[in-house]
Amino acid sequence: MTARRPLIVAIDGPAGAGKSTVSKILARRLGFSLVDTGAIYRCVALAARERGLALDDDAALEKLLGTLHISFKMVEQYNHVFLDGRDVSDAIRSPENSLAASQVSSRPVVRASLLELQRRLALNAKVGAILEGRDIGTVVFPDAEIKIFLDADPTIRARRRFEELFEKGVDKSLSDVQAEQNKRDKDDREREAAPLKPAADALHINSTALPMSEVERLIEEAVAAKRR
Ligand code: DC
Repeated sequence: MTARRPLIVAIDGPAGAGKSTVSKILARRLGFSLVDTGAIYRCVALAARERGLALDDDAALEKLLGTLHISFKMVEQYNHVFLDGRDVSDAIRSPENSLAASQVSSRPVVRASLLELQRRLALNAKVGAILEGRDIGTVVFPDAEIKIFLDADPTIRARRRFEELFEKGVDKSLSDVQAEQNKRDKDDREREAAPLKPAADALHINSTALPMSEVERLIEEAVAAKRR
């Protein structure tokens, strides 16, 4: 008898739509593993920057990818990210590293190399896995049982990000946050390799005017319908 594959929930969408917030809450509530694929790209960006590599040097990136060890661990209900054994949960989220992550994520060599890691992390889950990213429903798990495309108005997304940075003590104006977000959105949507776009069979949710509790409810309902 072959073991049953864990239930795969793909949550794609642009930055600031609420993917991380709802994924964390739902993973905890459902007892599913959580794979933050953006954090994986962020780790590659951090490692490349720390080694002084050009972010478009495919040969150097490929060599680097072969040496990196990226893992996740839940510590006090917070999903920590480890790069070669070092907790980089905060370091990967600086504004500089966010832009670098967007750049390395446009390199096909990086995307191809990270496919197996993303799939393995999800398939190791016992009951189910929630993967949040940009191309989960289209490329990483085109056969995911549940596909969500979570979006929100760009000004709302920038405000959420601004408030998040403000709480962390990062001094950045709302207009700077908006400008950086616009650039990342454009790069993520227009890149040739696995651009940000909804899967044809994704359930679209727009969180502009919805409380996150309602977004959670809609996704939980989709999961429950598949489990029935
Ligand atoms: O979700 P995030 O902001 O942490 O993602 C960081 C960068 O990685 C972002 O610019 C988009 C990119 N990314 C991607 O290309 N594909 C994914 N599956 C996840 C993230």
